[in-house]
Amino acid sequence: MTRYTGLIERYRSRLPVSADTRIISLGEGNTPLIQLQNIPKLIGKDVTIYVKFEGLNPTGSFKDRGMTMAVTKAVEAGSQAIICASTGNTSAAAAAYAVRAGIKAFVLIPEGKIALGKLAQTLMYDAKIIQINGNFDKGMALVKEVAELAPVTIVNSINPFRIEGQKTAAFEIVDELGFAPDFHCLPVGNAGNITAYWKGYKEYATERVCGNRPVMCGYQAAGAAPFVAGHAIENPETLATAIRIGNPQSWDLAWAVQKESGGWFDKFSDEQILAAQKMLSQFEGVFCEPASATSLAGALHDISTGKIPEGSTIVCTLTGNGIKDPEIAMKQCADTQPVTIEADLDAVKRAILDVL
Ligand code: F0G
Repeated sequence: MTRYTGLIERYRSRLPVSADTRIISLGEGNTPLIQLQNIPKLIGKDVTIYVKFEGLNPTGSFKDRGMTMAVTKAVEAGSQAIICASTGNTSAAAAAYAVRAGIKAFVLIPEGKIALGKLAQTLMYDAKIIQINGNFDKGMALVKEVAELAPVTIVNSINPFRIEGQKTAAFEIVDELGFAPDFHCLPVGNAGNITAYWKGYKEYATERVCGNRPVMCGYQAAGAAPFVAGHAIENPETLATAIRIGNPQSWDLAWAVQKESGGWFDKFSDEQILAAQKMLSQFEGVFCEPASATSLAGALHDISTGKIPEGSTIVCTLTGNGIKDPEIAMKQCADTQPVTIEADLDAVKRAILDVL
């Protein structure tokens, strides 16, 4: 058995690397595709739902797939520094892979609007964190401007190597199932990931690795849903801070995905998103961050209306780990706080019998 050493090594022939390329990797990819067992019974529908749990990547989100490629190529090109705007996950991934490569990472984040775990890990990875009084879209515009002036490589998903790395998630799904799902559901923010999955599925279908391609369903938070509005949103708002984005950079590419795949965009309220997050934790033992649960919120809605028909195989990408946003998790469980008792046997017995 060969040791797993990351997605570039696994999919080397399908990625833009040469034999001499120094691969910057933390062993990302190869994430579990978990079949939901209890939720389909609960909703009483004959559907097969898998979740691709990207929260199990090295920095806890799917961004690691793109970052291993983007940083590998930045280093190959001689870059000494990378930069990104971020709602938290890209910044964490950029910081980690920069450390690994021995280069500097600069990250622009919206002050007060990124989840605690993401801030903590980015600090630990020793990135230069620049907080701005403005949202992700403003940060993205600034990053593009500054990269014109300073010797820094942008590692947001406008960097095409990010998309190359992220397309491997579609490869993994097909390699595991032996076919592409009927529907693939994703949370959409900057729209890089939906673009990447579609590229992966298309490449496999073109090469006849699989005979089918999925319908791509892109779901947004109601307060940050430019693809549903049909135009950019000035002041996006949602508790799912990872997708608090009003002006997606991959606008045209994501519309092409929708048209080519016969898919659609839709939006869901924060309440629906949080309900899906809790449902996944409480019925399946899978703890993802709020934004990630948007994929399941959308899938469950579209299954209930029949837009996704019974008999379908569905994959929902869970983009990030629930541990990244402990504050929301604690609020979600405000009614079920731990009990505190005396440290003696009778008290423990009583506490157990109270529940059973
Ligand atoms: N889910 C999570 C957990 C994310 O962090 C993001 C994006 C998305 C979904 C949306 O993916 O942008 O490819 O459509 N986060 C970026 C960041 C913007 O800065 O971490 P997308």
